[in-house]
Amino acid sequence: MKHLIDPTDLTKEELEEIIDLALDIIDNRGKYSEICKGKKLATLFYEPSTRTRLSFTAAMMELGGNVLGFSDAKNSSVSKGETCADTTKVINCFADIIAMRHFEEGAATVSAMNSGIPVINAGDGSHSHPTQTLTDLLTIKREIGRFDNITIGFCGDLKFGRTVHSLIKALSRYKGIKVVLIAPEQLRLPDYMKQEVCEMNGVPFVEVDTMEEVIGDLDVLYMTRVQKERFLDEDEYDRVKDFFILDKEKLKNARPDMRILHPLPRVNEISTDVDADPRAAYFRQVENGKFVRMALICKLLEWADDPSKNTVLVPKDAVKGKFICRNKRCISNMETGVESIFRPAHDKSGEWRCIYCESKPK
Ligand code: CP
Repeated sequence: MKHLIDPTDLTKEELEEIIDLALDIIDNRGKYSEICKGKKLATLFYEPSTRTRLSFTAAMMELGGNVLGFSDAKNSSVSKGETCADTTKVINCFADIIAMRHFEEGAATVSAMNSGIPVINAGDGSHSHPTQTLTDLLTIKREIGRFDNITIGFCGDLKFGRTVHSLIKALSRYKGIKVVLIAPEQLRLPDYMKQEVCEMNGVPFVEVDTMEEVIGDLDVLYMTRVQKERFLDEDEYDRVKDFFILDKEKLKNARPDMRILHPLPRVNEISTDVDADPRAAYFRQVENGKFVRMALICKLLEWADDPSKNTVLVPKDAVKGKFICRNKRCISNMETGVESIFRPAHDKSGEWRCIYCESKPK
């Protein structure tokens, strides 16, 4: 069974197959209008969403399929205490494929472990958001024309920004990628991302304090919102929320072919006077999200019965019950019945990582 929990669940070839299919869907919409006839997508959203949920819904409708699910877990039996594992088993009786967004990190992994139908992670806490990554990659392909040799600046909340983590992982497989990290001290990229993704894949990165000092070097500026909902301390949020604001003045130093991406929603980090600039690609990016999710649904349904297409959820060298995850938002600390499982760190440092959220043990 092929699930999409993390961008690295797809090989580079599979990822490009999905991007190529999305490009074909854009050019030949009619060809795909009945390809999912009789199929049902369940959208299980435990956390708010506009783009992801509605683009999944629009995608399945444009493929001729149907959609069921909930957009607020309070109106489901989750409010009575039903676990993610049990909800998944129930939804398996009704649907052919699941898209799940959850505030608990690792929820999509637990869902996949309990599912006989493909599970798509539509965002799990601060951890991962692989379908946003597919959206970002399709946008880069259409706007820049390549994945190799790109200098990309990530600006804002790089600590909690799951879209940033997922996109760096995906791009780290390409040649000539340079990463510029623009964030205040409190919102810097987590160490596991620097060690196990950038350093291990030979992706050079620099950390800077201002976007002005680097904007002229960038092919892509990836802006992000400082996410109030991820802060345990509101004063800490107030200290960092207005650090980076992109406006027309700052754009004067950017190249004419640079592109500005943002997963959205935005608060104030991109001034609305930037929207009319041809370099502002973030609303075109939203539409790409629908096309790439159409391609993903087609591919995961096609691969569902192919034994050669398998997602490894628990690696062979993982250990069970030995450690406790240090991340309070990890599903292993939030739901009963979720076994603690750790794998060796990919960089062979001898450290261990939680299989649900990639944090270290306590
Ligand atoms: N980009 C994104 O995930 O947006 P939503 O939270 O609106 O789904």
